[in-house]
Amino acid sequence: MSLIDQVIRPDIRAMSAYAVAHSDGFLKLDAMENPYPLPEKLKAALAKRLSEVALNRYPVPSYTGLKTRIRQKMGVPDGYDVILGNGSDELISLIALACAKKDEPAKIVTPVPGFVMYALSAQFAGMEFIGIPLKPDFRLDIEAMLSAIEKHRPTVVYLSQPHNPTGTLFDEKEVTSIIGAMSGKGIVISDEAYQPFAEASFMSKLPEYPNLVVMRTVSKLGLAGIRLGYMSAIPELLAEFDKVRPPYNVNVLTEATAEFAMDHIDVFNHQAAIIRSEREKLAVALDKLPGIEVFPSRANFLLIRVPKAGEVFEKLLARKVLIKNMGKMHTLLQNCLRITVSSPEENKIFLDQFSACIQ
Ligand SMILES: Cc1ncc(COP(=O)(O)O)c(C=O)c1O
Repeated sequence: MSLIDQVIRPDIRAMSAYAVAHSDGFLKLDAMENPYPLPEKLKAALAKRLSEVALNRYPVPSYTGLKTRIRQKMGVPDGYDVILGNGSDELISLIALACAKKDEPAKIVTPVPGFVMYALSAQFAGMEFIGIPLKPDFRLDIEAMLSAIEKHRPTVVYLSQPHNPTGTLFDEKEVTSIIGAMSGKGIVISDEAYQPFAEASFMSKLPEYPNLVVMRTVSKLGLAGIRLGYMSAIPELLAEFDKVRPPYNVNVLTEATAEFAMDHIDVFNHQAAIIRSEREKLAVALDKLPGIEVFPSRANFLLIRVPKAGEVFEKLLARKVLIKNMGKMHTLLQNCLRITVSSPEENKIFLDQFSACIQ
């Protein structure tokens, strides 16, 4: 038996690592990043602020200054706190870690196709993952969701709002009925990674639903590189999740940068507004192309269905345009491509290249 066979558990050995596409020199439209850098004036002010950070000290694990700003700027209800993660990816792992049980596996229910980290976190922590297919138009199959909740009694339901990879914003009444069905039994996570582009949120509804957790990230807002996610819920629940959080999980440079960003949130909100309007323009332009189906999106990306999507994807790659080929992820996504909405200039390059590739 090899060392690896002896040491690493079989399900990990059997899987492949999370693949990130090589993107040097590409027009990068695969990861839902904000295309805009910080304005020069803010860059200089941030550089000064970062130069004053005490790199020799551990972060202060209460992160009071940053949490206060997030509460104020992100509409966290009075009396509610947040906990921070190294990206919301880490928060997703922490939830699984806190909820997994040894004797009888706790369950996660979520619509599929969905964000891959929900399934991975379940696998790593030893939770059972139950994916409920969306309808072919990518709305929730609410009957199937409610009967899965009834049948499986999950501990956690994930709803990404808007949904990745489809961009759908699920119907508010249906989401509310899921929260109701989980009441007294388990928690519902409203994963609002794309909230800046949806202008819809369950954050203000936290006081109505003790079993609701609202999760956000600064990644899509323009700060994917600093890795910061946060989530809010009733204090009793947050206190439990906080026990599995490594005490210094958010580093001092991220902390200082995020505080700075919260102090200049108007700049990021303005960028999000441009991206929202670009999304509508790009959707209209793609819709005019022959044979292309564009799905409605409330996020900073568009999901489209294209005849021979695999070939189109490869042709775009050859032209140094990187988008995401979703076809292999799930049968519902056959011939689907996902494109991050970018600046007017980059969207134009994409449209020109894409039009040439579907000829
Ligand atoms: C629905 C959803 N949740 C969470 C994340 C992770 O965000 P973060 O960059 O904060 O880890 C993503 C990233 O793409 C996402 O699509």
